[in-house]
Parts: sequence; structure tokens; C-alpha cells
Amino acid sequence: MARRKIIAGNWKMNMTPSQAVELCATLKDLVVNDAVDVVYCVPAIDIVPVAEAIKGTNVKLGAENFYIEDKGAFTGEISAPMLKEAGVEYIIIGHSERRDIFGENDILINAKVKKAFAAGLKPILCCGESLALRKAGTYKEWIARQIKWDLTDVTADQVKELVIAYEPIWAIGTGETATADQAQEVCKMIREVIAEMYDVATAEAVRIQYGGSMNASNAAELLSKDDIDGGLIGGAALKPDFGKIVNYK
Ligand code: PGA
Repeated sequence: MARRKIIAGNWKMNMTPSQAVELCATLKDLVVNDAVDVVYCVPAIDIVPVAEAIKGTNVKLGAENFYIEDKGAFTGEISAPMLKEAGVEYIIIGHSERRDIFGENDILINAKVKKAFAAGLKPILCCGESLALRKAGTYKEWIARQIKWDLTDVTADQVKELVIAYEPIWAIGTGETATADQAQEVCKMIREVIAEMYDVATAEAVRIQYGGSMNASNAAELLSKDDIDGGLIGGAALKPDFGKIVNYK
């Protein structure tokens, strides 16, 4: 089954609102590719200006974080209905920076995945191993466990709409990319885990991205692999090079 590729930028904590609008203008003509879904996942404060700046283009809007309650006394947080009303379609959940720096665990991440679906947002669920786990050789078990935890009580129909991003932590922002074979090995394994948890049709439908120092020179090879359906791109999403990744072939 041909899965549609999804190339998403994770802007992280970069770009003030005016810089965000400027970046949208810079990228506008470079990110046109009808064959792939293009997404900008942007800081909360940039969501409204970016929604305006990408109007009439092929770019879809994503957010980087939210909290599981709809409203109330949660100082500093932002809710799924707020994101939805602002035009957000995709939401990054379980990024290693949120797991490691902000202490998010798999129980919260699972609650976020369920809440996102309930609110009509499409999760980009991140998973991936540390360098220590990679060296110890136990990375596959680790990732399989993350997926099982994070998808507890998520239905097959929901998983068909899900995007999973495999992001080895040792490759994020380090310039050290997993080889295409290393990335393919894990993305294939994730699809097998989904087949085991659900069924083959669900596993064939779920889109699995690679993330971690993906750039204009390594994207084509990574994206040529059978089980790699896209990329979650940090640093290179903030530059004109992002257009080259979107148009990798
Ligand atoms: P990077 O970040 O492309 O800068 O390595 C990827 C990510 O963290 O999503």
C-alpha cells in the first residue's frame, strides 16, 4: 500500500512571531510538492500568525505541545480545543526533549494521544532510544515498550490516522544521522509491533517518520526506504534547505 509521505518541521523554541512569518515567506515557494504532506509544528505563540501566513498554501499547521484538560487552572498550559480553533491539525507528542527535560512519562503521553484524537488533532508520536540503549543493543525492546505504553486503549481506526516519529536521541541536533539502514530497521520493527498489537491493515496504514539530523543531503536516501514514510525535521526546518527535503526527488 502506498502511504503518503509526511515531511514535518519541528521548529522547537525558535522563531519569534515576526521571524516565524518571515520564515513562512522564505519557504513559501520552496515547499510546494503535491505528493507529500508538509507540516510546520510551531511554538504556541507563533500558531496564529503562522496560520495566517500559510493560508492558501499546501502547508498544514502543527503544534509542539498541549495539556490534556480542556480548560481550567493549569497556569502556562494550552489546550487541545484552543489549538483546534486556531487551525492546528497535527500535534507532536512524546518528543524526547519533553520526556527528558520536562519529565513527561508514558502515562501522560498515552493520555495526550487519546486526548488529541478525541479533540480531532492528529498526533505525531515520538519514540526513540538513548545512545546507551543503542550501545547496549536493547533499543528495539525499549522502543516496542514505548509504543505499547503510548498506544494503550488507542483504537485501530485511530492508529490508521497516527504518525509515529522514530527519533534516536543520539541523532537529534547532533549532526549524527542514523544510517538509512539503521532507521529502516527500527521503522520496520515499529510497523511489526503495530501489526502485533492491531492487525496488518493498521500496520500498513500508519505512517512512520524518521527524525534526527535529517537534512537536504541525507533525506532522499532515508525516504527511499520501504518503512520510512517521512521526516520530523528540527534544525534543517528553519532554513531554505527544508524545501529540498520536501522535494527530495
Ligand atoms: P534535528 O531535530 O533535525 O535538529 O536533529 C529533530 C527533532 O528533534 O525532531
